[in-house]
Parts: sequence; structure tokens; C-alpha cells
Amino acid sequence: MKQTILAILLLMSAQVSAQVRQETVLTDGWQFSHDGESWQSVRVPHDWAIAGPFDKKWDLQRVAIEQNGETEATEKSGRSGALPWIGEGHYKRTLQIPDGCAHAELLFDGAMSEPTVFVNGKKAGYWAYGYNSFRVDITPFVKEGDNTLEVHLRNVEESSRWYPGAGIYRPVTLITTGRTHLDDWSICVRTMTISSGKAELEIEGSIVGADEHTALDITLTGPDGRPAGSSEASPIGDGRFFAKLSVADPKLWSPETPYLYTVTAEAKDATGTTLDRKAIRTGIRTVRVTREHGFQLNGITRKLKGVCLHHDLGPLGAAVNKSALIRQIKTMKDMGCDAIRTAHNMPSQMQMEVCDSLGMMVMAESFDMWLYPKCKNGYARFFRQWADRDITNLILAHRNHPCIVMWSIGNEIPEQYSEEGRQISIRLQGLCHSLDPTRPVTQGMDKADEALRSGFAQAMDVPGFNYRVHKYEQNIRQLPQGFLLGSETASTVSSRGIYKFPAEPDDNSRFSSWTSGYDPSAIKNADGQCSGYDLEYCPWSNLPDDDWTWQDDKDWVIGEFVWTGYDYLGEPSPYDEYWPSRSSYFGICDLAGLPKDRYWLYRSRWNRDEHTIHLLPHWSWGKQRRGKVTPVYCYTDYPTAELFLGGKSQGKISKNPASRLDRYRLRWTDVKYEPGELKVVVYDAAGRKAGEQKLCTAGKPAKLQLDLWTAADDGTLRADGDDLAFITVSLRDAKGTLIPDAADQLTFSVSGAGTFEAVCNGDATSLESFRQPTMKLFSGQLVVVCRSGQTPGTIQLKVTDRQRRLQQTLSIPTR
Ligand code: GAL
Repeated sequence: MKQTILAILLLMSAQVSAQVRQETVLTDGWQFSHDGESWQSVRVPHDWAIAGPFDKKWDLQRVAIEQNGETEATEKSGRSGALPWIGEGHYKRTLQIPDGCAHAELLFDGAMSEPTVFVNGKKAGYWAYGYNSFRVDITPFVKEGDNTLEVHLRNVEESSRWYPGAGIYRPVTLITTGRTHLDDWSICVRTMTISSGKAELEIEGSIVGADEHTALDITLTGPDGRPAGSSEASPIGDGRFFAKLSVADPKLWSPETPYLYTVTAEAKDATGTTLDRKAIRTGIRTVRVTREHGFQLNGITRKLKGVCLHHDLGPLGAAVNKSALIRQIKTMKDMGCDAIRTAHNMPSQMQMEVCDSLGMMVMAESFDMWLYPKCKNGYARFFRQWADRDITNLILAHRNHPCIVMWSIGNEIPEQYSEEGRQISIRLQGLCHSLDPTRPVTQGMDKADEALRSGFAQAMDVPGFNYRVHKYEQNIRQLPQGFLLGSETASTVSSRGIYKFPAEPDDNSRFSSWTSGYDPSAIKNADGQCSGYDLEYCPWSNLPDDDWTWQDDKDWVIGEFVWTGYDYLGEPSPYDEYWPSRSSYFGICDLAGLPKDRYWLYRSRWNRDEHTIHLLPHWSWGKQRRGKVTPVYCYTDYPTAELFLGGKSQGKISKNPASRLDRYRLRWTDVKYEPGELKVVVYDAAGRKAGEQKLCTAGKPAKLQLDLWTAADDGTLRADGDDLAFITVSLRDAKGTLIPDAADQLTFSVSGAGTFEAVCNGDATSLESFRQPTMKLFSGQLVVVCRSGQTPGTIQLKVTDRQRRLQQTLSIPTR
């Protein structure tokens, strides 16, 4: 009798499990190999190339970079990061298919690149583009119980203008359901209108295997967890359903109020039994662009204060990680940034979830090239066959994210000048509209004249222009849209904590063979660093100050996306031809995520909630600078300030709207360096003293300081194997002043409830591996990353400076 009951219970549970969706992120249990013979255990997300070693031989490109105006090929050693990302990669693991499963699919969020998926030895799927998410229906290939999953990847040389990463660098999810199930990407939630305290939503979804008795129930849960509406969706044919929902007193999503709702779609049979259920986090908000009001979120005009971001996470490489993304986005938000552009490819789901929940608007991009290749083996190989499928997946996978406010179909597409280019723009934009009528479509154009002549620019919902602000006035006259976006701005370059004299605007043309300022000896005598006075840019670009005059003075400029929020691996302009140099100088923050001075410049203008008072350069120069002109800048939102050196006034000055460099910065350009105390006192618009800041000359190095950052506010990590702690290590004197030129070799040991993950000092010329527990300080600082284990406890980090016999430890609890 007992046995019969047990059997019935088992049968019931088998039936129930046949109906219930299971989504399993495949993190552990992977094996990785380059040659298919020797294997190592890895966790996914995984980037096989980030451990290095750095070497100029990897993807050594002898090319002319046409976008930069070059006509002759030269050696570009660090263009794609000087890391071993080229070659083949094989991944394998066991897949557990539950009993009674009627449908199984794999969702890849991106695999670099050209992933071919095999299940039980049979080819089950393929995707060409390494940046896109794709689904593979593996139902025909699986059996209940253990199955083998293999993924083969292939990266070819000269296929990227930056470091693309290598491997299964974004999550893979196994989804199993019953026979009748929701088609995941079919579910779409749209805010149609918001007015009189009410939001009207439309929701669509498809059920695979539906019959005439199948029903779809939609319920909405508010940010407070309470029911906010429900509806039975109406069938509209082919298993598709449609519902309308009215939400009273909606809590609108915005960067300042990132309220999230949950939409639950539940497929039921005739008896009311649940066949499948899927919950989607989304937000209620509207986006509009118009001639009269520019860009509007929820009916309120605002200018986009955006940054472009490449997808790599510095020393973590392309392997996506939630804590690292939270750190990136929170740091940008504190600067006052409210938007990112995912240059120049599809974002990860994880990044979009972080932007949804922290409140960061997104321009989600797709391509860096179409038919005409920007590098020999780039996406142009695939465009004809794959472009529509790629745009489709981008939109279907991401359209429920409230953070995404526009789609981008391309960056500096060479076809800007042609009718063919215009036609492709119209086609791709039309495809975006058909999959998502609620968001405008843009692309970044660098050849304004050509794009306007061909009608390429006029065809876009949002005409985006990269650089060349001096053409804005001429562009707007030809644009029926009546507004334009600075889709890519600034490209100012700097190295954290490095200052060069004299401090004067410099377009670095001496490094560029195609400019009249070219000086072949310049690269030979260079040091691979850019000045922190934030006055260096590229021959095609400009200073932040130049963009802001347009942003501030013209209503028809609807915002900007600065190149870039963070330094990234590859593209070391202006040192493309200098070795060693393997990462960018464009970042407002360096590759380790540490703010450069420019961070405070942007913050002084963008962050309207908090004041900024930041002085530069450091004030710890050697004897040789004594008595020499050492300009002092203050980045502040206050209009006026007085500077004191050793108590002696250096002058009280105010911002000057008529001057290129004095409209947004306060500069004392003839200060002569003497060691001691440098103090700035700032005054508000009414002339009242509002605050002060000091810089002191550092004494002898006395201690290592460890500053901990974790995604949780309480300084702990989740013991889930994925959480990361970022520890900024700095060498300081006894009073706590940074030793700004310290380059001591440090070593790290991590024990207890976690492991050493990576280290980065932000020096673009460093060839030290991110994955070895030793590195030199750069400008007195570096960042160590520790990863939590899966058992709660305490991580112990020990940092040692052997040269000075200094040591410091830090304990990080994991829970
Ligand atoms: C732009 C391009 C970016 C990056 C940048 C550097 O023209 O869109 O990808 O190369 O220049 O300034």
C-alpha cells in the first residue's frame, strides 16, 4: 500500500514537473580547452584571454585606421588589447534534463565568437555575432537525465577594433518547460500613455502548443510587492495573446526613481491548471523625441548626460559580473551621468538589469560596421546574412527593460555617404519599429557632410553625430527632425595622476601621420601617458568644455554620450603605434575603475544634487619643480574661488562664459610650485563662502591604505561564488596624504572564504598580468579584486610592500 502511494506521488510530481518551467543558469561544471585534448575546469562567465600574457604579437595589426583619417598602414600593436583572444575554444559540460520535460532550450547571452552548439554530439545551433543573445531549441537532441553540451568558439585575427574578449563570457541558461509553454521573447510590455494619474499598458505574448482552451492571465505587481492590476489576455490567433491594463497612480521609472513592476504571464488549460508561468521585471515610463521638446522621459524634457561604455570590465575582461557592473553604474551615477551607450554592440542582460534597478538610461547599440569592413575580418563578413536576425534578437531579448530609451543600428558606418547606406538605415530602423514601436532609433555618424548629402542622417528618428561639434550648426539646418544628439563626444585622453607641462590644449596630432602636425620623432620620445590636466584630445575630437557650450547653449542638442566612461582594453590612442600600450586613455575613470580628474569635471556640471570641489594636480613635486609654473585647476559647480599656497592668495577668480577653458573650470595658470599646503575656498553665486579643499605635499611613505567597495552597503559579500570585492590600495604618508608617484611592487595573498580574482593599476603601458597576485602601484594606487567562495566565512586579504616593509590586512565577511 505504502509503495503504491509513493508511486502515485512520484507520478504526480513527474506530471507537475512536466508542466513547470525550470530555468537553470549553467555556471559550474564546465570544462574548457583550446585544443580539445587538455581540459581545465572553469566557471562561466569565462574569458580565456584575460590572464594574458600581454604580448604585441597577439593580433598584431598592420593597418591604416580609416576612421581616424589614416591612409598608410602602420603597426598597431595594442589595438585589440595585446591579449591572446584569437584562436579556438571548446567548452563542455553535462546537462541535466528533468524527467517529463517536453521542451528544452538554451539561452546564450553572448559567446565570443561564432558559437556552434552541440548536444550529445549533434550540432544544435550556431550564431555568428559574438555579442548577441540567441536561443537554441535543443528538444530534438536531448533525453531525460544526463546529456552532453559542447560549445565551440572561433576568434579570427583582425576582427575587432578593441578587445572583444574570448569564450563564453556571458551566462548560459537552460530552460525546460512542458509541451504547452510561453515563448519567452514573445512577451512584451509597453507603456502606451501616462496621464491623469493613470498608465495604460499593453501586453503581448505567445503560447507555443496552445489550443482553443488555452488562456493567458496577466498580473502586475507593484514596486511595493502589492497587486497593481490583472487581466485575462485575449487570443489574437496563432497562439498570440493581447491584454490591456490600466494602472492607477503608477510609480514611474526614471533614473531618479527606478521603480520596477513585475508582470507575470500565466498560461492555463481549460481546467485552470497552470501550464507555464513567467515573470518579467519592467517599468512604467514613456520616451519621446520631438522637434518642440527634444528628448522626453515621462513627458519631461531632459538632456542625456551619457557616457559610452565598451563591454570589458578591465581586469575581469569580458566575463560579465554583476558586482562589477553595479560598481561601474553607481560610480557613473554619482558623477551625475544618467545614460550609457553600449558601444558598439548588444549589451548583456545583466548590465540591463543593473541599469533598470539602479536607474540608468541606455542607448542599446548593435553594430560597428555593416557591409564595408572597418577591420579585415569584422562583422562585415556576416552583415548581409545576419543583420536582421541580429537586430531582431537584440530587441526581442531586451525590449522589456525600462532603462533602454533608444536603439542604435550602428556606429560610424562607412556607408554614410551612399544611397545604399540610406536604404539600409531605413530598413533596419523599420525593423526596430516593427518589433518595438515605442522607442526611437539612432546611430552615430562621423561624416556629417556626407551623411546629410546622402539623406542618411535625415532618415533617422534621432540623428546622432560623433564629434565635430563645429558642424552642429550647419547640420541642424539640414535636419527635418529639428534636433540632434551628440552620440559620441569628447574623446579627451588622460592618465590618472600624471601631469605634463606646460598645460595647454593639445590635439596630439604629432602622433598622427595623416595630420599636418605629424612629427615622426614624437612617438619615439613618448612615455605612453597622457596628461591629467584634461587638455589632450585627438585630431578628430575635442575637450569636454567644447561639448558643453553646445549642450548648454542650444535647445536642439538633446544630450551627449562621452567617449568613454571607463578606459577599456585596446585602442590606445594616441599611442596606437607605441609599445607597450594596450588599453585606452579615453576613460573618465581608468581601467581599474578609479576616477581620473576628469571625473570631477563632469561631476561638477552633471551632478546637480551634490557639490563638487576638486583640486589638481597633486602637490607633491620634487625639487626640480620648485619655482616652476605649475597650473592649479579647481573642478567645482561653484562659480568663484580663491586659491592659497602656503597661506598666500593666488587670486580670487570666477568662471568666464566667454572663454573656452574658463567657462567650466577655475584655473590659476601661473602658480609657482612650492611644497606646502594648497587650499581653495569656493564661493556661491551670492558671494558667500561655501566650502574649501586642501592638498598637501606628501611626507615619507608610511602606510598602505585599503578601501573596500562591495555591492552591498554593509561591506559584506554574498557567499555565492560570484560576488566581488574591490579594494583600492594606496600608499600614503603618516598623515594620510597619497604618495602620488609611488610605483612600489606589491604582492597580495587571499585566504579564507574567497579567492584572489584580479588586480589592475590603470597604467595603459603595464604588461603585468591582471591575474597574478603582484603588481606595481601606478600613481600611488591600484585595485585588487577578491571573489567570494560558496561557503560563508571571512576573506582575508594581505597586501605587502616588501621594498618598504609595509603590510596591511583586510577582512571581508561573506554571508
Ligand atoms: C570614434 C569611434 C569609437 C572610438 C573613438 C575614439 O570615432 O566611434 O569607437 O574609436 O572614435 O576616439
